[in-house]
Amino acid sequence: MHIRILGSAAGGGFPQWNDNGPNCRGVRAGDPNFKPRNQSSITVSSNGEDWILINASPDIRAQIESFPPLQPARKVRDTGISSIIITDSQIDHTTGLLILREHDKPWDIYCTRSVYEDMTTGFPIFNILGHFRGINWHEVSTEQIPYSIPKADDIVFTAVPLKSEAPPYSPHRHNTVPGDNVGYKIEDKKSGKNLFYAPGLGVIEDHVYEYLKNADVVLIDGTVWTNDEMSRSGVSNKLASEMGHLDQSSKGGIIDTLTSLEKPRKILIHINNTNPILNEQSEERKVLNSHGIEVSYDGMDIII
Ligand code: MLT
Ligand code: MN
Repeated sequence: MHIRILGSAAGGGFPQWNDNGPNCRGVRAGDPNFKPRNQSSITVSSNGEDWILINASPDIRAQIESFPPLQPARKVRDTGISSIIITDSQIDHTTGLLILREHDKPWDIYCTRSVYEDMTTGFPIFNILGHFRGINWHEVSTEQIPYSIPKADDIVFTAVPLKSEAPPYSPHRHNTVPGDNVGYKIEDKKSGKNLFYAPGLGVIEDHVYEYLKNADVVLIDGTVWTNDEMSRSGVSNKLASEMGHLDQSSKGGIIDTLTSLEKPRKILIHINNTNPILNEQSEERKVLNSHGIEVSYDGMDIII
């Protein structure tokens, strides 16, 4: 199974269009310690030809151009993307669906009922797509039932409910329900190996810890270094925890959690443009290195 990182940044990307903090200034200035990053998305394939897109970011057009297997190759208009999984209804994970509106048939989209509700009410992208070729919604259970997707026969997907936050436009904003955010165990039947993907992880619940412990690779929430990073950077008064993201550096945070795991390779994704780990020479990045924690980058390939 081949997993390609299409976008390793959180919502806003890196640099973010209106941000002039030290990270965004650094990357714009071409400082070699910073890498530009598109917004949060990965793709997975077991045969190298048919790809499942997991989250459709507003940068999907550039992401397709960055990865030839997703590009048209078989007829005048087509794509290597066979189906789409959405883990939540956040802007950074769904807006790309609008960019993909010219598809020649309805998109097969896999998401939970609560995400479907958001996408047909508070953020009605699915309704809008109904004016083009529409979608085939495949309801994903929140009961952790493994499922497969056509053209990815050797991969087993299991959605895992996570405690995070529903977006501001969601009818469940202030009373989140299971299915507002899911992570994914993605298992390759041939190798028996699995990757656990969770770009938005607010709390490490016991069932989530079991998935982390038993994964061969974990690819999880790297949004912020500290919970108050956004206010400290002067960009927002929101705590990361209020946005459903667990910080890296606090006691019981992402670093502590990852350090307690013996088996998996440990990789961060969905890095916010305020996070000091974006500077490859920073002290914070050195701390990650010393714990054997990697930071994913656009174009990274994981093969298991
Ligand atoms: C998040 O992950 O918290 C959201 O993507 C933030 C946003 O894009 O506004
Ligand atoms: Mn996000």
